[in-house]
Amino acid sequence: MKAPVEGFSRLAKNEKIEWIANNCTKDPEQTKQLLKRYWNQDAKVQKLHDEFIENTLSNYYLPFAIAPNFLINGEFFAIPMAIEESSVVAAASKAAKFWLSRGGFKTQVLGTEKVGQVHFIFRGDSEKLERFFEEIKEDLIKSTADITESMERRGGGITAIELRNKTENISGYHQLHCTFETLDAMGANFINSCLEQFAKTLREKAKAYPHFSDEEKDLEIVMSILSNYVPNCIVKGEVSCPVEELNEDDLSPELFAKKMVQAVQIAKADPFRAVTHNKGIMNGVDAVILATGNDFRAIEAGIHAYAAKDGSYSSLTHASIEDGVFTFWIEIPLALGTVGGLTSLHPLVKLALEILRNPTAKELMQIVAVAGLAQNFAALRSLTTTGIQKGHMKMHLMNLLNQMGATEDEKTTLVNYFKDRTVTNASVKEALENHRS
Ligand code: MEV
Repeated sequence: MKAPVEGFSRLAKNEKIEWIANNCTKDPEQTKQLLKRYWNQDAKVQKLHDEFIENTLSNYYLPFAIAPNFLINGEFFAIPMAIEESSVVAAASKAAKFWLSRGGFKTQVLGTEKVGQVHFIFRGDSEKLERFFEEIKEDLIKSTADITESMERRGGGITAIELRNKTENISGYHQLHCTFETLDAMGANFINSCLEQFAKTLREKAKAYPHFSDEEKDLEIVMSILSNYVPNCIVKGEVSCPVEELNEDDLSPELFAKKMVQAVQIAKADPFRAVTHNKGIMNGVDAVILATGNDFRAIEAGIHAYAAKDGSYSSLTHASIEDGVFTFWIEIPLALGTVGGLTSLHPLVKLALEILRNPTAKELMQIVAVAGLAQNFAALRSLTTTGIQKGHMKMHLMNLLNQMGATEDEKTTLVNYFKDRTVTNASVKEALENHRS
């Protein structure tokens, strides 16, 4: 792109494709063909996807896969995952199978509280502001009656509004810190609508409050927005078994259990390790979040903030050996929805939810936590025994063969050849060349 473009969003889809192909790519014809090759054959489905966002040119595929055999609280689940990383689904499936014969996963939702804030500046007497807030609190809630009516009918709504004085951080800065129960909805629209109404009512009431000076009456709203930090919207997932049941090929159960606990301790002690450790957890979490049409950016932001809640970035999983029992568990915040958003629009999201037996948001929280825990168990199990590369490169073999232009016959031969050999870029290249000659 050499110059700015005017009115791009108003161009027709084909014109946008034409523009991008001609202005930003070396081979415009090839670009146009590529973008169109990824269109859905069903024009209605394509239109649906086009309308999710602005300026859609095509679709960006991710594999949609299943990790079967998860036993969660005594029930079987096949977990849908959308992810590009070669080893993630295989690792999840392996962990599911491992725990299947050891009692499976146990989960529990510890809280479902969502958060939103109105940030405002009040330069004046803080005590007067507190009195004012107590007097108008009911009016704030009443003013959202139209918005909250249907949510309240279903058992949700606003659970609390609190005035927080943040003047130590920024001169005049205060908040309405509000909490919500949004049931099966992620609740972003509900929360943001309530907050914007709170802000409006707050300003109107301040203007009319007889005990405020003119400056105090001019309370300044900065912004109203939900928070993706939800430390009271928490789910716990756990596996446990007697240490002697942790039989591994090359390690004694005791040593394996000890190494797993050490691996978690290291992630608790060192942020460099903790970030990678948690990244492995997010491999499982994000894959289910994406497959079920939830907002992975919100989940990522909230979970990493939670990982740092005690002042230093730390592990999201925990492990212990007590009285001969190995226990491994996760605790993460997850503000999820199983209604609204993409959940009723994206055909594959609908299918993913159907495969999970149309869970409530609370049930989905538990499934996602299990996916994260399973992923971490699988990663630590490899790291503390064979090393990660063995399994990782095996799964990556197909990508390497595809990059090297191997035929289907060549792929079959080489996958077989590498069954008990080490996969590296060079070894695959060499093996393919040898096979060809
Ligand atoms: C790779 O995607 C994830 C791991 O690095 C996680 C970990 O180190 O725990 C294997």
